[in-house]
Amino acid sequence: MAHRSALINVMVGAAQKAARHLVRDFGEVENLQVSRKGPADFVSNADRKSESILQAELQKARPTYGFMMEENGTIEGTDTSNRWIIDPLDGTTNFLHGLPHFAISIALERDRDILAGVIYEPINDQMFWAEKGQGAHLNGRRLRVSSRRDLADSLFATGIPFKGTENHELFTRQLSAVMGQCAGVRRCGAAALDMAYVAAGRYEGYWEMGINAWDIAAGVVLVREAGGFVTEIGGGKNFLTKRNVLAANPEMHVQLGSILRKAKRAAE
Ligand code: IPD
Repeated sequence: MAHRSALINVMVGAAQKAARHLVRDFGEVENLQVSRKGPADFVSNADRKSESILQAELQKARPTYGFMMEENGTIEGTDTSNRWIIDPLDGTTNFLHGLPHFAISIALERDRDILAGVIYEPINDQMFWAEKGQGAHLNGRRLRVSSRRDLADSLFATGIPFKGTENHELFTRQLSAVMGQCAGVRRCGAAALDMAYVAAGRYEGYWEMGINAWDIAAGVVLVREAGGFVTEIGGGKNFLTKRNVLAANPEMHVQLGSILRKAKRAAE
């Protein structure tokens, strides 16, 4: 078993505690009271409960750190260099439809850099974790991004825009350009897992527009520690604020990125 720091143990412990409730609620998904937060963006009681558990556990262990959370927004800590970026239930739509593909995502941002990330897929007990300089891991196993170098053999993940989001036309053009050249494109509905699976070498790459910081923050350190690259689709560094991301193995970061950018230029 790879050595986990005290920090990672805190994050893993919080994710496991929140996950116990999520799994129980998933079993009763039909009885959950659901409210509408915005177009196609459902929030369940399970989501809120998961977030309060994560917040309480992380606050207990590191009382001075701030928070950026999907449900409760931003809370300033007295220590302004450290903040947790949390998605208590990534894959909300899957969850509400009874699809067992969802995760809890916790990142620690220190001085604007993602230092550590934990993504937990509770249904099959897959604990992905990474810390800067300490590698990326799945349960006890070290992760590496895929070594595939040919587009024709590459499998990609993406997020399809939906009602209430932007870029429908551009996405269609980009997908059309990518799908004719690769082995397949998946849309599984949980961005944190898309990132974790790039780190695990299951996908060669992943891109999405209109994505939120909490969906991808933990995945950033996972992909990087596994030897991959994470940028905006255009190549910039501000993917957490610009709301678009390209994460891939080094070769596909170049090739997939170039197809996506070319399709965008053609659309302009
Ligand atoms: C969503 C998922 C999905 C992505 C959406 C996200 P949520 O997160 O990650 O894969 O395409 O853009 O909003 O709402 O389930 O936390």
